[in-house]
Amino acid sequence: MPAVEAPSGSSPSKSTPTFSPQDVTVLFVLGGPGAGKGTQCANLVRDHGFTHLSAGDLLRAEQDRPGSQFGDLIRNCIRNGEIVPMEVTVRLLENAMDEAITRRQSNTNNNNSSSGDRKSRFLIDGFPRKMDQALRFEEAVCPARLVLFYDCPEAEMERRLLERGKTSGRADDNADSIRKRFRTFVDTSMPVVEYYEAQGRAVRVDATPGPDAVYEDTRAKLASRLGEDF
Ligand code: C5P
Ligand code: MG
Repeated sequence: MPAVEAPSGSSPSKSTPTFSPQDVTVLFVLGGPGAGKGTQCANLVRDHGFTHLSAGDLLRAEQDRPGSQFGDLIRNCIRNGEIVPMEVTVRLLENAMDEAITRRQSNTNNNNSSSGDRKSRFLIDGFPRKMDQALRFEEAVCPARLVLFYDCPEAEMERRLLERGKTSGRADDNADSIRKRFRTFVDTSMPVVEYYEAQGRAVRVDATPGPDAVYEDTRAKLASRLGEDF
């Protein structure tokens, strides 16, 4: 089945979200490239049982999927640090959420395990990077509970990305792409952070220290904001 295909029962322009916040908790995770979003998400998965969906990882998988009609489009956007048209990314995320929820339900049924007692909780990493993605996702897929924003100076992010670039194999961890990604972040993604901050839905974490200190701060802030949902 193509990865970019609507889950059953959904249509591209609907006014009711596919998932209800009563059943599903969504946290968006934002921050500039190299801020440490993926590292912190892995910690939260390990200790708090979230399902981690990285928009960038889903786009790279779709780019490499044989027969994808979006491969070249995604490849060009990623190399140039540009935002992929939101229809593609929102659909990939919706499908991945649908699969994770289905998998969880069938595990619960098969093992009689207690995971069904809790809501499905998702960390949606690197999304929304642009206002149109934010509005479409919350309208059509699921309203987000919070936005976790990792705030880091560019010089530190650049240092981390160049270090990562030695081994990541990523086409965009080079000085030229990094410059373009920073520009897109400031021009296009920061307005999304500001939109959520103005609504009181953002949690800002200083991402300059090392990963352990950032994680401690993340946990303290999420515990106070999410209460028993954390
Ligand atoms: O989050 P990550 O750094 O892995 O994203 C890599 C690239 O994927 C971005 O620079 C952008 O080109 C694309 N992307 C996007 N929309 C998103 C997330 C990533 O277009 N929401
Ligand atoms: Mg990442």
